[in-house]
Formats: sequence, C-alpha cells, structure tokens
Amino acid sequence: MEHEFKVIKLHDVPDVMEETAQLLNNEWPRSLEARCNVISQSSDDLPCSFVLLKVSTAGNVRTVVGFSRLSKVLQKPNSALVESVIVDKTLRGCGLGKMIMRHTEEFALKHGFEIIHLSTKNKQSFYEHLGYSLSTPVSAETKVSRFFSKSQIEKADDYAKHEKRIDSIKTASDLETEEITEPSQSGVPSSPALSIPPPLLSIPPPPPPPLSIPPPPPSIPSAPKKQISSSVSKNVERGSKGYVWMKKQLYDPERYCLKRRNLWDQETERNDKF
Ligand SMILES: CC(C)(COP(=O)(O)OP(=O)(O)OC[C@H]1O[C@@H](n2cnc3c(N)ncnc32)[C@H](O)[C@@H]1OP(=O)(O)O)[C@@H](O)C(=O)NCCC(=O)NCCS
Repeated sequence: MEHEFKVIKLHDVPDVMEETAQLLNNEWPRSLEARCNVISQSSDDLPCSFVLLKVSTAGNVRTVVGFSRLSKVLQKPNSALVESVIVDKTLRGCGLGKMIMRHTEEFALKHGFEIIHLSTKNKQSFYEHLGYSLSTPVSAETKVSRFFSKSQIEKADDYAKHEKRIDSIKTASDLETEEITEPSQSGVPSSPALSIPPPLLSIPPPPPPPLSIPPPPPSIPSAPKKQISSSVSKNVERGSKGYVWMKKQLYDPERYCLKRRNLWDQETERNDKF
C-alpha cells in the first residue's frame, strides 16, 4: 500500500492519543493513563506534542510511528526543550528521526525560540549528527513553576547546588517519561540511614532469649518511606548514570539576512558620514 509520512500536532489529531501513548510505553513503560495525561497537555503555546503519522495515500489508514515533545525552559525565554523523541522500532534508520527533529525545530523557530536543549543517555551521536553539542542542564517550565517568582526559583537552585545535586536536575516531564525503565532490584535502596549499625565492641552481645519466649513478630516495614527514598535515589542515580545535556542554536535564514542587511546599512551610513 502506498503511504506518506506527516508530522502533526497531537492536539490536532486527539483520536490517536492512546496509540501514541502505547508507542512511548513500548520504549519507556509506565501506566497508560499517566502517559496519556502527560502527552495530552499539548497546545501551540507549549508544551506541544508532535506525532509522526504513516498515512496511506488513499487517506483511510493512519498509524502513529513517531513522537516528540517541545516545552518551554524555565528562566530562558528564548530556549525550548525537546524530549521523548522516538521512532517505531521497525522504521528506524530511514530518516524519520531526523524528520521529526527538523519539524520540531522549525516549529520552535517559528514560535520565537532560538535555542533547543535536550538530554540523552545513549543517543549523543545521533544528536551530534543533527548539529547538537554538549551543554549544561536546564529545567522545563511546568504548571507549578509558573507560580513561583524568579528569586524563589533561584533560592531552590542554590540549595540544589549546595547539596551537590545539580547533576541530578532533570525536567519534570523527562522524569515522568523514563523513570520506570529500570525497576528497582530489591525495592529497598542501600541507604546509610536504613542500614543496621555494627555492634559496639565494648558491649557484649546480649544472651540468647529463653526458649519459652516466642520470637518477636517480623518488624513492620514502613512501606511509604521505602517508596519515597527509592524514587529519590533512582533520580539521583539517573543524573550520574551518563545522561548528557545538549543544545543547538537554531538558524533562521530570514532573520540572519535581516541582521546582515541592518549591519550593512549601518556600515554604509557610517561611511557616508566620512
Ligand atoms: C533516536 C531515534 C529517534 C533516531 O531515529 P531514526 O529514524 O533511527 O534516525 P534517522 O534514520 O532519522 O537518522 C538520521 C541521521 O542520524 C544518523 N543516526 C541515527 N542514529 C544514530 C546514532 N545512534 N548514532 C549516530 N548517528 C545516528 C543516521 O545515520 C542518519 O544520518 P544521515 O542523515 O547522514 O543519513 C531512534 O533510534 C529511536 O527512536 N530510538 C529509541 C528512543 C530513543 O532512544 N530516543 C532518544 C531519546 S533521548
């Protein structure tokens, strides 16, 4: 069957929402509901989700075969962040990843953004190939962050740096996308706070309990505590597990020409004066 590929904003084709969530979940498993919740927050004002559709020429069959998501960057009004770039496993290596990226970049440029940021674990060379180079971490603007002043955000940022956790800063939506890819081995992190301290050498070990006393009941694990420290340690680990940040300066030929013309005019004007 003849077909073509098109990149479309997800909010223009809401009926493919669940199919899109499935595509992402095949790569980064998580609950379908949570996934739909994140990707459905799509608008021209960002965050904006893009889907790559394989459409039959007759127009009667369309399949979701790719995705990307563009968000605003906190405190950097001329920057955008691209996340969750994916192409269906069976169609990789055919130029479709490049097509999604090009479309996402064009959209960003049209909406006034000059720099695109991203973080990646093992696709650094793919992005280098597309003109990205290593940079420093940024955070996506979220619904919550919009309600905080610049000074409040800076204070939180200073605190994070002080705690030497800057390496672990990821965007909220990025964590939502990939945090469940590596299930915890034991469910309990090897945190010093949870480990049992060695007995003091000066105190002799207690005598064994008399046989008549029943053994104590198994200690009740504090489940929520484990859950929290587990996810925190996983996030910190992810930062130190080889994620790199990259960015690309977008190039707008029209803006570039205008700039050159202005410079030329200024130069001619100055020469005319002499
Ligand atoms: C990363 C991904 C989106 C790339 O999509 P793709 O359709 O396979 O890539 P393309 O075919 O468009 O490749 C475009 C160019 O990049 C090159 N390229 C692709 N993958 C590359 C890699 N891993 N390293 C170096 N170059 C790569 C191609 O050779 C091609 O070069 P060309 O333009 O000179 O022909 C795809 O592999 C994928 O979905 N991976 C799983 C999800 C993932 O890890 N996403 C990244 C999250 S940060």
